[in-house]
Amino acid sequence: MNVPATTGAKQEKTIEYFSRWAKTYDEGPLKRWFTTVHREVIRAIDPQPNDAILDVACGTGKALRAMAPLAHSGRLAGVDMSADMIEEARQRAAEIDHLEFHVSSADQLPFDDATFNSVTVMNAFHHFPDQPKAIAEIVRVLKPGGRVCIADMTGHVLPFPIAGNKAWNVIESVLTPQVNALSRREFRELYRDAGLERIEQLPASQAYHRCGRYVIAAGVAQLISGIWWPWLLATGALTLLLGAGISFPYLSKTITIGRKPEEP
Ligand SMILES: C[S@@+](CC[C@H](N)C(=O)[O-])C[C@H]1O[C@@H](n2cnc3c(N)ncnc32)[C@H](O)[C@@H]1O
Repeated sequence: MNVPATTGAKQEKTIEYFSRWAKTYDEGPLKRWFTTVHREVIRAIDPQPNDAILDVACGTGKALRAMAPLAHSGRLAGVDMSADMIEEARQRAAEIDHLEFHVSSADQLPFDDATFNSVTVMNAFHHFPDQPKAIAEIVRVLKPGGRVCIADMTGHVLPFPIAGNKAWNVIESVLTPQVNALSRREFRELYRDAGLERIEQLPASQAYHRCGRYVIAAGVAQLISGIWWPWLLATGALTLLLGAGISFPYLSKTITIGRKPEEP
């Protein structure tokens, strides 16, 4: 396994964790969750036939493979710190000519300034040890007017409105020691500090967003009705928990989009 030497021990352990997962990553139980996020990010960047697109921490390159027919005359590049993930990505995209993969850290991208129309990061930004440096690198390789689109765990919605990202840090640090999930506000600040403009935020899965909200609303309605029919307090609490279960991982991912200013 090839881990570039600039990383700290926590980051190395995190990369080892992902490398062990590389072979089965696309088939695993989290596939649906990650693929939902890919779909929303691809919709947000709206790839055009000649676009140059970079996916940072691309894993097995699944999102890039989905973008390949859309940016069919462009350049698609993926980087990841895990050589095993990149190996899988290369094998799975062997037939796609305009797709390239590199083993690289997010904070030292192997590309010239102003190369890409869009840069994406999906399900990975919370693992980056130096997040301001990573976003500075992303801005460097973006063309003026280019778009950065990061989908990550932010934990911002009911029923965990407070510090859901911090809860996620505790949960995931059991598996991967390098974890720092940002809140929605922290993402906006990071983008502004990096000089990005026209910042927007969207839930990373519209469908689960709606579904979770309906189940939670049904739970709340039962709890209120429990004033008259007390047995509804129990079913209401269970429905609320179910809504939380559906919604927590899905609702708490946010896509933050920003643009590099056009040159004056
Ligand atoms: C949960 S996976 C997400 C992969 C892919 N983006 C997806 O959505 O399926 C996180 C990925 O981030 C990569 N990663 C973690 N820290 C990184 C860093 N500092 N630079 C580049 N890649 C990193 C890991 O190797 C892993 O492949």
